[in-house]
Amino acid sequence: MLITPNRNDLNKIVILNPKGGCGKTTLATNLASYYAARGGPVPAVMDCDQQGSTMRWLEKRPCSRPPIHGIAAYKNSMQATRSWQLRVPNETTSLIVDSAASLSHDDLREITRDATSILVPVLPSAIDIHAASHCIADLLLVAKIDRRDRKLAVVANRTRRNTKSFEKLMSFLDTLGIPVIAVMRDSQNFVHAAEEGIGVCDMPLHRAKQDIEQLELIIKWLDDWENRRHHAMPTGTYPEPNAANVTVLHKSQFGSSSN
Ligand SMILES: Nc1ncnc2c1ncn2[C@@H]1O[C@H](COP(=O)(O)OP(=O)(O)OP(=O)(O)O)[C@@H](O)[C@H]1O
Ligand SMILES: [Mg+2]
Repeated sequence: MLITPNRNDLNKIVILNPKGGCGKTTLATNLASYYAARGGPVPAVMDCDQQGSTMRWLEKRPCSRPPIHGIAAYKNSMQATRSWQLRVPNETTSLIVDSAASLSHDDLREITRDATSILVPVLPSAIDIHAASHCIADLLLVAKIDRRDRKLAVVANRTRRNTKSFEKLMSFLDTLGIPVIAVMRDSQNFVHAAEEGIGVCDMPLHRAKQDIEQLELIIKWLDDWENRRHHAMPTGTYPEPNAANVTVLHKSQFGSSSN
């Protein structure tokens, strides 16, 4: 079981999408680097994926960079209690949770239980958009995330704007009332940053300006978490989601084998 503190001053940012390779770890490590570089309380990353990519990235992080607290939630330690292993430093105000691909329904409920922000990175291919629509349906129907709470947002990743699949993704999410808060381009900066234990915000501005600008849009949305929490949308903003209307909506947008 995943235990995370129920603290009023902690933005628990959960990054999930059961589709492998959509950019969960990339987003987690870049957000953590940004919070660290900005100064203030040391951010924490919790790696829930057996692959341990976020923890490996953290091991590579140069000592000269501002610290990030790492929590290897995927490990089962015999030496420590689960709550000790998963403890988040008291001073931390941003906890970024990197999840595994293919979560069970129970895992999904558990990992989102006290989340204050949920980010779903989506790649623009038909297969990925299809998988993302299932992921969003599960978040609404299984994890019972209420869109009026404004906790949920999508980040389009490795995207070329003005493509047909990008437009379909946008209109599908628009109909569901889920904001797309940033569009990250396909950029080798993310690959190099991952190799070096840093984020794009640690790279020279002339090289990573476009990537940092999109990252800042995500940070801006995340920074607004308390405002979002206290100003939920009024009842009746959206029809109640149910399996039928999410599936029908999905089919009407994409058909059964769209591109
Ligand atoms: N915007 C991007 N531009 C270029 N490469 C990217 C971008 N986003 C992610 N990548 C690369 O794509 C690969 C998969 O990304 P990442 O590991 O973040 O996905 P993931 O969702 O965490 O995968 P998994 O489900 O296996 O954990 C990595 O090699 C990463 O460097
Ligand atoms: Mg990953």
